[in-house]
Amino acid sequence: MSVGATKTVCVTGASGFIASWIVKFLLHKGYTVKASVRDPNDSKKVQHLLGLDGAKERLHLMKANLLEEGSFDSLVDGCEGVFHTASPFYHDVKDPQAELIDPALKGTLNVLGSCAKTSSVKRIVLTSSIAAVAYNGQPRTPEVVVDETWWSDPEVCRQMQMWYVLSKTLAEDAAWKFVKEKGIAMVTINPAMVIGPLLQPTLNTSAASILNLINGAETYPNSTFGWINVKDVAHAHILAFENPSASGRYCLVERIVHYSDFVKILRELYPTYKLPEKCADDKPFVPTYQVSKERAKSLGVEFTPLEVGIKETVESLKEKKFFQPPSAI
Ligand SMILES: NC(=O)c1ccc[n+]([C@@H]2O[C@H](COP(=O)([O-])OP(=O)(O)OC[C@H]3O[C@@H](n4cnc5c(N)ncnc54)[C@H](OP(=O)(O)O)[C@@H]3O)[C@@H](O)[C@H]2O)c1
Repeated sequence: MSVGATKTVCVTGASGFIASWIVKFLLHKGYTVKASVRDPNDSKKVQHLLGLDGAKERLHLMKANLLEEGSFDSLVDGCEGVFHTASPFYHDVKDPQAELIDPALKGTLNVLGSCAKTSSVKRIVLTSSIAAVAYNGQPRTPEVVVDETWWSDPEVCRQMQMWYVLSKTLAEDAAWKFVKEKGIAMVTINPAMVIGPLLQPTLNTSAASILNLINGAETYPNSTFGWINVKDVAHAHILAFENPSASGRYCLVERIVHYSDFVKILRELYPTYKLPEKCADDKPFVPTYQVSKERAKSLGVEFTPLEVGIKETVESLKEKKFFQPPSAI
């Protein structure tokens, strides 16, 4: 019998890119999964979940909103594990406080508050981000190794107007303070940009960053990002719940590359595609840096090479008709 066969867990924001994979793997392992979505009647958001193996028998969709107090009480009640993944991730925001910071920060405390009301919850796995780790104003160069002891600085985030980064930093910080005070066990997963196949029919922000490159962009950004495969991220969440010795934070970054090198990989994989040739500015390239894999490896995470994730994403974008390759036009 698999580990999850007798256990009930819940996943918040289950319709999202990462959460959909967590739900898929949990069902595969035999767990009973209570999954929250904002609108269970929105077939675009739930159809792919209902079609997962095991969903008919063991998936229970429930309605919950991060901004409604007590909204998650009935979701977490009776669950041994809580995977809190719901949080807005997009860049085109008009009101950062209302659109990003409140749902991330108040929403996380709302979910944790529900956990504190029930004795069933043994561990929370919070989907945080490398955003809450790596932005503290310290220079990042190829020799610098970022690890789980790093924390992003809210003041730096505000100055740079990095609102998503700020939202994740404030949310994770508040979560740790809350669980320490209440004596609740929590582990955080801190992934970099997540890529790989989409289960959901809608376009998520990290997959959109690849779509932009293959969809006729003239330039690539002068930016350097870490990347990680969505299946590795989902597995890490489950390992963090199942492994009794898991604790603290786990950064997940397979590789850090400048966009120029990211485009190079795309060009090798898809030589016939029109890909950006030039950088968006004439400044020196933003340097790479390293992120430690030690803790993630100790958890049992195996890292899928970046090339595989890029290919999976492009193939998925084609299959879901977000992109038509040149030969098919
Ligand atoms: N993708 C990445 O590169 C990446 C990297 C590091 C960390 N993360 C973190 O991973 C998590 C999931 O990200 P994702 O990329 O999978 O994004 P996604 O596909 O956009 O999913 C976000 C989820 O959050 C839910 N949500 C947003 N606002 C909500 C609200 N007010 N109430 C309830 N649910 C709400 C969305 O629900 P609806 O479907 O109803 O909109 C959606 O299910 C987030 O915590 C994000 O910060 C993502």
